[in-house]
Amino acid sequence: MTRTVTTDEVIALTDKYVMRTYKRLPIVFARGEGCRLWDADGREYLDFLAGIAVNSLGHCHPAVVKSVCEQTAGLMHVSNVFHIEQQAVLAEMLVRQTYGLAKAFFCNSGAEANEAAIKLARKYSWMRYGEDRYEIVTAEQSFHGRTLATITATGQPKYQRGFEPLPEGFRYVPFNDLAAAKAAVSDKACAIMLEPVQGEGGVYPATQDYLRGIYELCRERGLLLILDEVQTGIGRTGRFYAYQNFDGVKPDIITLAKALGGGISIGAMMATDEAAKGFEPGNHASTFGGNPVACAAGIAVVRTMVDERIPERAMEMGEYLRGKLAEMADRRRSVVDIRGLGLMAGVELSVDAGRVGELALERGLIVNSIAGRVLRLLPPLIVGKPEIDEAVEIIDYAIGEVEA
Ligand SMILES: Cc1ncc(COP(=O)(O)O)c(C=O)c1O
Repeated sequence: MTRTVTTDEVIALTDKYVMRTYKRLPIVFARGEGCRLWDADGREYLDFLAGIAVNSLGHCHPAVVKSVCEQTAGLMHVSNVFHIEQQAVLAEMLVRQTYGLAKAFFCNSGAEANEAAIKLARKYSWMRYGEDRYEIVTAEQSFHGRTLATITATGQPKYQRGFEPLPEGFRYVPFNDLAAAKAAVSDKACAIMLEPVQGEGGVYPATQDYLRGIYELCRERGLLLILDEVQTGIGRTGRFYAYQNFDGVKPDIITLAKALGGGISIGAMMATDEAAKGFEPGNHASTFGGNPVACAAGIAVVRTMVDERIPERAMEMGEYLRGKLAEMADRRRSVVDIRGLGLMAGVELSVDAGRVGELALERGLIVNSIAGRVLRLLPPLIVGKPEIDEAVEIIDYAIGEVEA
């Protein structure tokens, strides 16, 4: 695309006219392909952030571009007053991958998908047990989005401060602590809501025993199990949905967004037939949710993921990545822990992870740091061994510089 403004002008315009909700780095990207991005001056970057787990098929995947372009030329938007072909097709494709969930509601983002899940859990419980059961148990260090209900579900006070009064009805428990979850379930509880791998909280995978125990607790106490798969879903953890890594865990509701549109905004909340009974026409809606263009992108993403067995590839490359990081940890004393599942990896450091990220960026690698101590690696799932080698070499160099 022809540029009409320089990088400095973009930064100045942003500072002047865009609300200050982000701390932005002074880079303007002009083009992306596969695992690579190019800035406006033609400098190349290796992308191990993928738009925070969005560009899972890499930048501008040809199948997604084709599907979106064709759909855009034919029909861009119609209201949910009508049946929408692409929405129906995508819903069936997503359901087929779940073995157990039966229905999808489409929206535009992760926060909206979680908002829908919270509403469905409350409404189902209200319908089935009456008005006194509305509490949702969530985990400390979780992240579920930025709407009022989802910052309240998020077990991190820093996202809530200043936005009080918050909606009632959320209780927080330490993650991976089954006894704490059991103790927190009161007669008022209607659901437990968790991420299978906590992403923003520092890349902490749930343990098999914990998630299975939570599932059993939900069955015993008549609670809905809501799994937030906004970051983990659509292949990232080596299975199509992350919960499929855990034996005997069957969620009642899951939420998706990020990778589902391959770069086009779309979210989804999926539920079992039973839980979905909580919503009747008029209970929930979204003007753009399930829009033909967003769903055309989703269809291309899901088809490519399944046909090209991308989740299996993510599992294999994730193991290779963690192996390389472990070799690096033998040399670097500041590496405290390496964790993750599939191609969602966290490297906990005893030195400033933010500074490591800055030095990596100077060498052309995009990685994310969380809370100043964890490097989060979320490469496109199409990443290969040479790119992983290149990334780990740069991270190794950057950690070495900060250690020195
Ligand atoms: C687990 C999880 N849930 C929800 C969200 C919110 O998604 P969105 O920013 O699309 O609203 C995020 C975003 O990072 C997330 O990681």
